[in-house]
Amino acid sequence: MRVYNFSPGPSALPLPVLERAAAEMTDANGTGQSVMEMSHRSKDFKPIIEKTEALLRELMGIPSNYKVLFLQGGASLQFSMIPLNLAAGETGSPKRRISFVDTGVWAKKAAEEASKYAEISIRASSADRGYTYIPDAPHPNPADAYYHITLNNTIVGTRWPALPETGAVSLVADISSCILSEPLDVSRFGLLYAGAQKNLGPAGTTVVIIREDLIGHAPAWTPAMLRYDIHAAEGSMYNTPPCYGIYIIGLVLEWLKGLGGVTVMAELNREKADLFYNYLEESAVFRSPVEKPFRSLMNIPFIPTETDPARRAELEKRFVKEAATAGLVNLAGHRLVGGMRASIYNAMPIEGVKALIGFMKQFETAL
Ligand SMILES: Cc1ncc(COP(=O)(O)O)c(C=O)c1O
Repeated sequence: MRVYNFSPGPSALPLPVLERAAAEMTDANGTGQSVMEMSHRSKDFKPIIEKTEALLRELMGIPSNYKVLFLQGGASLQFSMIPLNLAAGETGSPKRRISFVDTGVWAKKAAEEASKYAEISIRASSADRGYTYIPDAPHPNPADAYYHITLNNTIVGTRWPALPETGAVSLVADISSCILSEPLDVSRFGLLYAGAQKNLGPAGTTVVIIREDLIGHAPAWTPAMLRYDIHAAEGSMYNTPPCYGIYIIGLVLEWLKGLGGVTVMAELNREKADLFYNYLEESAVFRSPVEKPFRSLMNIPFIPTETDPARRAELEKRFVKEAATAGLVNLAGHRLVGGMRASIYNAMPIEGVKALIGFMKQFETAL
């Protein structure tokens, strides 16, 4: 029996994608091979990576002056690659400055890594209220190398309601937990990056979308595997790319296109999130800790209204356990913040959200 999986990542994939991958497991496209067995440079794999890139370009409306790279190392490696390639400069050159907005764990990690290569400036932070909102973002200094934001904050469940104005300074965004969930104007960004394991496919592939003028500025000492210019020149084939992951991403993108693309997906995501937030507003037992204008469509944390710490912990434990028994799994909140969290990425059907709400109502009544 399939469960409804509310994991923040790796996350549920669309069932038709899994079924197709299963059907093609031992013989993909009549080649007599699994995609896992294909040489990445073969005539069999080439159309797979080309199709995946073309679909991503089409669905996201990626302009022609941007490169799409399929890399490894997760979003976390981008925390290092981006400052190395965009800000580090040659040895002896003055340190460049990067602006960051601190909206939680991932934003902070990105800034910490960047501080090894550049001067960082935390322009705003929402730490004062437990990261339950997105702060106003001050304008960058025009000399900044770039301005970094985390568009959707997976752990605390916030999302930027509008993009900050950064003038001539390139906006760089971590879109790991919201890629393809809503339309995004790629031309507003210098660079976008996402680990695949939430809205795109299995863990192991990282998608980087980079404006061409930002390529080619890595210092000479940068390891080859960490250079955008090399990956771009080699069409993501400087070394063996994560072939199977790229293939699954292609299937996910085909599925998304078949549903009507990102605009239709955004409507579905809005409907799912509204259902759940509206239920939380009415609930006597659970509530959202996030301030209304900043609530994520993808990751919805919820906490008991109970304030006694011991009773609260007991209730959380019981809830997560009983939900799992009912086939609603991975609802525990992140270990750093506790509580519960429902991650409802693109692949979560509305029936899953309805089943969760139904279970929560029953749980309330049984208390
Ligand atoms: C917004 C965001 N950025 C970065 C990461 C880290 O990604 P990875 O594990 O692919 O390095 C995550 C992981 O959940 C995330 O949600």
